[in-house]
Amino acid sequence: MRARMPYSGPFQAGDRVQLTDAKRRHFTIILEPGSSYHTHRGQIPHDEIIGADEGTVVQSTMGSDFLCFRHLMVDHVLSMPRGAAVIYPKDSAQILVEGDIFPGARVLEAGAGSGALSMALLRAIGHEGKLISYEIREDHLEFAVNNVEEYFGQRPATWDPRLGDLKDATVEDLGGPVDRIVLDMLEPWECLEVSKNLLIPGGVFMTYVATVPQLMKVMEGLRELQCFTEPRAWESLIRDWKVEGLATRPEHRMNAHTAFLVMARRLADGVTPPRPQRRARR
Ligand SMILES: C[S@@+](CC[C@H](N)C(=O)[O-])C[C@H]1O[C@@H](n2cnc3c(N)ncnc32)[C@H](O)[C@@H]1O
Repeated sequence: MRARMPYSGPFQAGDRVQLTDAKRRHFTIILEPGSSYHTHRGQIPHDEIIGADEGTVVQSTMGSDFLCFRHLMVDHVLSMPRGAAVIYPKDSAQILVEGDIFPGARVLEAGAGSGALSMALLRAIGHEGKLISYEIREDHLEFAVNNVEEYFGQRPATWDPRLGDLKDATVEDLGGPVDRIVLDMLEPWECLEVSKNLLIPGGVFMTYVATVPQLMKVMEGLRELQCFTEPRAWESLIRDWKVEGLATRPEHRMNAHTAFLVMARRLADGVTPPRPQRRARR
């Protein structure tokens, strides 16, 4: 049974529910009337969850408590099957805001990979937008399609996943230029020329690259094309905190590196980018 994902209200049949036990272990079930979930601590009848509010606690037949919530999008992204490495929530959050993904935007992404970024983009463009996702590998596209459809309960009408190399895409293929382009691939510099052709003047180009050589190559490529603003590069570091009385301190572990982000805007045709002014050294 495929989950249909409402975002709020009491649990209904078809919802994907995350059960958390006292040891903070997670178990995911899809609610089916009459079914039971078997744990090492007894059974949980789905009918006890259907109709209950989110955040409810159910007891298994052996008396263990399980907390019930629907998956948030981040839970889905971190637990779904993957063909390719996913963009983590800390970086997709940056892409949505710094890349100015707005409701109604026409967005192009490549590659679709496992579909993690596609989900975030689809939510941000709303019902009026359009997301075209190119993926060169059939097996990866299958992961992306399955993961996105699993999350939304069906393929969103705003999504157009395509098997193919982004380098071959034309404005005609896309039905017109796009407002935003987001690349997450090994060699994004190979897709700069096509991005230049597909992006509307003023449009935002973003890419996500894991290593310093990739970062240098894509920055140089953007500058050479002479049709983008001076690109900006940055990374985001998120450090969780433990907040417990006198033991309050940063957590020992953090995800110190995922990737760098690069952003530039498409200039109008025929315009030469102003040279960045640097202060003279004394
Ligand atoms: C790291 S994955 C993308 C992950 C995705 N952003 C996510 O969050 O799930 C990179 C993908 O880019 C695809 N790719 C590489 N070059 C491509 C190209 N020129 N056109 C389309 N897809 C490409 C690869 O096959 C791979 O699946």
